Amino acid sequence: MEKLVVIGSGVVGQATGKGFIAMGHEVVFCDINPETLAKLGSQGHKVCPPELLEQEQGIKAFFLPISTPTVDGKIQLGFLKGAVANLGMGALKKNNDYCIVVVRSTVPPNTTEGSLIPLLEKYSGKKAGKDFGVCMNPEFLREGRALEDFINPDRIVIGEYDKRSGDRLAELYSGFNAPIIRTNIKTAEMIKYASNAFLATKISFVNEIGNLCKKLGIDVYDVTNAMGLDKRIAPHFLQAGVGFGGSCFRKDVEALTHKSKSVNNEARVLSAVLDVNALQPMKIIDMLGQKLGDFNKKRVAILGLAFKDNTDDVRDSPSISIIRNLVDQGADIVCYDPKAENNMKKLFPQIAYAESAVDAIKNADACLVLTAWKEFGKLKDQDFDSMRQRIIIEGRRVLDRTKVRDFEGVCW
Ligand code: UGA
Repeated sequence: MEKLVVIGSGVVGQATGKGFIAMGHEVVFCDINPETLAKLGSQGHKVCPPELLEQEQGIKAFFLPISTPTVDGKIQLGFLKGAVANLGMGALKKNNDYCIVVVRSTVPPNTTEGSLIPLLEKYSGKKAGKDFGVCMNPEFLREGRALEDFINPDRIVIGEYDKRSGDRLAELYSGFNAPIIRTNIKTAEMIKYASNAFLATKISFVNEIGNLCKKLGIDVYDVTNAMGLDKRIAPHFLQAGVGFGGSCFRKDVEALTHKSKSVNNEARVLSAVLDVNALQPMKIIDMLGQKLGDFNKKRVAILGLAFKDNTDDVRDSPSISIIRNLVDQGADIVCYDPKAENNMKKLFPQIAYAESAVDAIKNADACLVLTAWKEFGKLKDQDFDSMRQRIIIEGRRVLDRTKVRDFEGVCW
């Protein structure tokens, strides 16, 4: 059992810490947000505010899963650099034994070596490779399933400053049933971006094929079901719909495109992935316009606000641009989401929020399904009988054809 510290206890930090606890290690959670620490403390975890971290001794590894948002496509490293500087001048400086610093944030290639290691050395007065080790260990965790993904990874990537650093991290991961890939640091940084960019590409690709299928009267799901049986293609991430959302895909593809530009390389596919995704929610608006004509004073029920099921997160959710567009055109919106209504209220306090899907549908002129919540699959024909006009457009392929007739898919 080793003593580990997780600095930054958000979704990734908590999954990392709890996962290592499940593997038998001792973990101290650190965060600048006292509420996050209080919550973890109440769950029985060991917590520590950043200013007291230097009092902890015997630490073998510091994990840094700190968010790196983008503004206009450019990554913002402020939070991460701040935490790295604090770690350098505090706990790293005071820790007597050799330990490793593990970057777990998503950062563009060359960030760890170009910016973070120099900061650690400057503030600690110690030397990387001699006094402490450094690894870059990207995460591939899905929101809502992060702990499960941490414990059952497809692969573990260790970007190592030197062999000693990598050996230390590989030891911590020795109980996991997954291949461990050891690379240099910038390769590990790139593996994360390339993985997310590829998943985003798969989605935009399949949406493009779906848009074409729609025009040709073909069900894209019949196409992708057959495509996915080809082992080289695989069935995952071929669900066409209103496009991807969430805090990662757009941000990471933008950051990679930006990085690419900075070295005079044009990333044409990546730019197209973002373009297709930005336009995809408008497909449902176009379809609705064809059926409904003018939106003014029309009552539109929106089922699903979160960027995907099993989360209350609405960041970059396709529902945002769809609602904004409808509101701008004078529609009356009634939405329903089992978890995400409170988060959406912060963005759209002026629209109505229903207690259930059935309530939202009542008297609506049209209904749009935007998140694949399982409960929507239980809706029956009669649930839609209360609509003023029976216009149902599906953006996620979650309604059950055997229970509901008369709905149309956005690209099938
Ligand atoms: C994504 C990656 O899947 C994780 O591997 C990665 O670690 C994480 O980002 C991150 O970088 O932190 P996440 O954003 O939680 O995870 O969500 P996903 O399950 O990947 O879904 C993203 C979006 O794509 C959702 O809006 C979802 O509805 C959409 N999607 C997904 C589709 O439209 N079609 C699909 O076939 C799959």
